Amino acid sequence: MPRPTTVHVCSACGHSSARWHGRCPGCEAWNTLVEERAPTPAARAARARLGGGAAPARPVLLADVSAARFPRLQTGIGELDRVLGGGLVPGSLVLLGGSPGIGKSTLTNMALGNLAAAGRRTLYVSGEESAAQIRLRAERLMPSRGAGGALSVPVIAETDLDTVLATLEAERPEVCVIDSVQSLHDAQLSGAPGSVGQVREVAGRIMRVAKAAQIAVILVGHVTKEGALAGPRVLEHLVDCVAQFEGERERTYRTLRALKNRFGSTNEAGVFEMRDSGLVEVLDASARFVDEATGKPGSVVLAAMEGTRPLLVEVQALVSPSELVPPRRVVNGLDRNRLALVLAVLGRHAGVGVGSADVFVNVVGGVRVEEPGADLAIALAVASAARGVALGGAQGAGPVACFGELGLTGELRSTAHPDRRLSEAAKFGLRDVVTPQSAPTLRQALRAVLRRAGEAERAAA
Ligand SMILES: Nc1ncnc2c1ncn2[C@@H]1O[C@H](COP(=O)(O)OP(=O)(O)OP(=O)(O)O)[C@@H](O)[C@H]1O
Ligand SMILES: [Mg+2]
Repeated sequence: MPRPTTVHVCSACGHSSARWHGRCPGCEAWNTLVEERAPTPAARAARARLGGGAAPARPVLLADVSAARFPRLQTGIGELDRVLGGGLVPGSLVLLGGSPGIGKSTLTNMALGNLAAAGRRTLYVSGEESAAQIRLRAERLMPSRGAGGALSVPVIAETDLDTVLATLEAERPEVCVIDSVQSLHDAQLSGAPGSVGQVREVAGRIMRVAKAAQIAVILVGHVTKEGALAGPRVLEHLVDCVAQFEGERERTYRTLRALKNRFGSTNEAGVFEMRDSGLVEVLDASARFVDEATGKPGSVVLAAMEGTRPLLVEVQALVSPSELVPPRRVVNGLDRNRLALVLAVLGRHAGVGVGSADVFVNVVGGVRVEEPGADLAIALAVASAARGVALGGAQGAGPVACFGELGLTGELRSTAHPDRRLSEAAKFGLRDVVTPQSAPTLRQALRAVLRRAGEAERAAA
């Protein structure tokens, strides 16, 4: 049998070359050559004929397509099921990304444990840990459920793709976790495990088996320092759902967010807390964050939307005089560019200039908020910090809450679901809520909260 050969194909211009080059000889782009399997001589000969010699396909009317509705597989972790759009879809591919140590293996182990306990056929493929390590974690995760759940998940510790695929075909699990896609390798490609060519080939071949055998596969993927899923973006196009597990390792809160979902909304997010016994769903996240809100100068509560669910989080700011040119702008849990925009609008339209001060803005609890409704919270927190005034409203009204998008001319724009945000704030006793409806411009919003803060201060004195 002839040895299968590989070619290196430029992902920008399609130039192919037998050897790897750092710079594509075709288009002179750097680092674009990716190793792929070379087509066999028979395939090449067939392609030379018109239409590759393939028989034409027969289109069918959508009305005639039989679409069996498979029930979704519930992982038993409510937050995970919600992010997936109501559970795992049989035959679908989910890419679960996250930085090292964030809890990807923990989450997938727990999900498989629950599925096994519910009588589903499962398989856990680990290319990173030994079976013994996985057992130790399973024991830690489910001490009370013992053999019922986590310990009844079949595992293989394997990095060879062909062996994994053969096992999948033989075992035919309903749900399989591949931990991680970067650790598997296709022996016919010379690239190291985790290289672009390898990851693409591994994911592509797993997908074919998964679709054919109706296996729901969760591919665990590492995330690079910059926050992108390591490996090619093409992986994100290939899979049905991309879920990102994020948060800071030192903090206890983690959020799971769908970046892409062919079977559900991409707005959903789940909040978890990392404990000794594993990841615990945080169902009362708002209550915790509101309880922890300090109410000091620089603090404000943001009534955010995490998908279809409202979430109250505390946004804190610190403004400190600086000699640095340009001064520092540090932001945690929010978009850096939004901070720059908000600071510019604050200076231009609300008379709060922070041009010669370092500005730090932080969402407490390691949560990430990625919605324009956070603008007003950033603005109020920075203004409160710059003026040194606590925004506590009237007696018994609790900390000030807010939401709203900031326009470049200083106006406040409404954001999605104002009623749900308001009722969430009311639920947790926050009566002083600044919204685009209550204050049409940033200047008015600021004046209102500062006036109430002044009244509260005088009343206290
Ligand atoms: N005994 C323990 N008690 C409490 N928490 C623990 C314990 N052991 C591990 N953890 C937590 O679990 C995390 C690691 O979880 P896990 O192995 O699921 O992460 P991962 O995302 O799969 O990491 P990797 O990228 O290394 O595969 C640690 O960062 C730590 O927070
Ligand atoms: Mg892991």
